[in-house]
Amino acid sequence: MSMLDTLADLKRRVVGPGIEPGSRRARVIAVAARKGGVGKTTTTVNLGTALAALHGLRVLLVDMDAQGHVATSLARDQLPRTGDGLGALLLGKNRDLQEIAAPTAIDGLWSVGSDPGLNETESLLSARIGKELCLRQALKLARTHHDVILIDCPPNLGTLTVSALVAADQVLVPCDLSTLGLDGVDALLETVETIRDTLNPMLGVLGLGHPQGAARRPPRPAPRRRLPRRPRLRGPRPGDRAPPGPPRLSAPPEAAPPAAPSAPPHLSSPPSHPWRLPPPPPGAKVAAL
Ligand SMILES: Nc1ncnc2c1ncn2[C@@H]1O[C@H](COP(=O)(O)OP(=O)(O)OP(=O)(O)O)[C@@H](O)[C@H]1O
Ligand SMILES: [Mg+2]
Repeated sequence: MSMLDTLADLKRRVVGPGIEPGSRRARVIAVAARKGGVGKTTTTVNLGTALAALHGLRVLLVDMDAQGHVATSLARDQLPRTGDGLGALLLGKNRDLQEIAAPTAIDGLWSVGSDPGLNETESLLSARIGKELCLRQALKLARTHHDVILIDCPPNLGTLTVSALVAADQVLVPCDLSTLGLDGVDALLETVETIRDTLNPMLGVLGLGHPQGAARRPPRPAPRRRLPRRPRLRGPRPGDRAPPGPPRLSAPPEAAPPAAPSAPPHLSSPPSHPWRLPPPPPGAKVAAL
């Protein structure tokens, strides 16, 4: 830690974080799903960007996933302004996320970047009493500076996700329609019920969605195949030939005369073609065709 960071830390401990409460009252939305890769981060970033850029709201994105994909999606490294990251802030006392919130390139959109040590933070938190309340307490001041706070949760129902659900007013659940995906939605909704019954009675479900399905193209129509022409059906007309009857049975072939003993193959004349008749026996009458 540099000398400046040490001084800033000392000042914060002595006189508090030095952030005045704002005049807003943010709605906090946790974007959560137990299954990975269902679009939590994409939904968080796109929704936040739309609310800031199109609706002029002041939005804070909080990346609670150690993968840090919110910063990747924003194509900008969201470094905290103090020496501490999100993990230290969640473990500290009387700290607020507003201390490390940083503006992004989009007007009105702010972000609290992830921390690669968040997994370790989670295991340290798990031994604490009241661990589920850590994020709610750390959002007290941040809530007063923003209109909407969107929390991108990790793909599990561990302490960090539970603390996001305890801090949130609503939860948004992206999902896919696979068996495992729907199983994960069931598990999450059960967790929401439990949290509603205990730590956060006001928690509502904003919606369940299949973001990847919405963007999928409709299936292309099958290429048209040329069908073989159907024979035209019509009744017999005057002058038509009679339809062919059943095939006539031909007379059984006569038994071939016993073959004359032939010369050995190497002495015989070149073999005749199979469709050429054998020469008539001497003295036989040959009918003119
Ligand atoms: N609406 C969408 N349309 C098309 N692709 C999408 C959409 N939403 C997400 N994706 C893609 O799906 C993949 C996973 O998305 P994303 O990272 O947002 O999921 P996640 O739930 O945050 O994953 P993780 O659980 O690993 O954090 C990404 O490649 C992303 O580009
Ligand atoms: Mg993600």
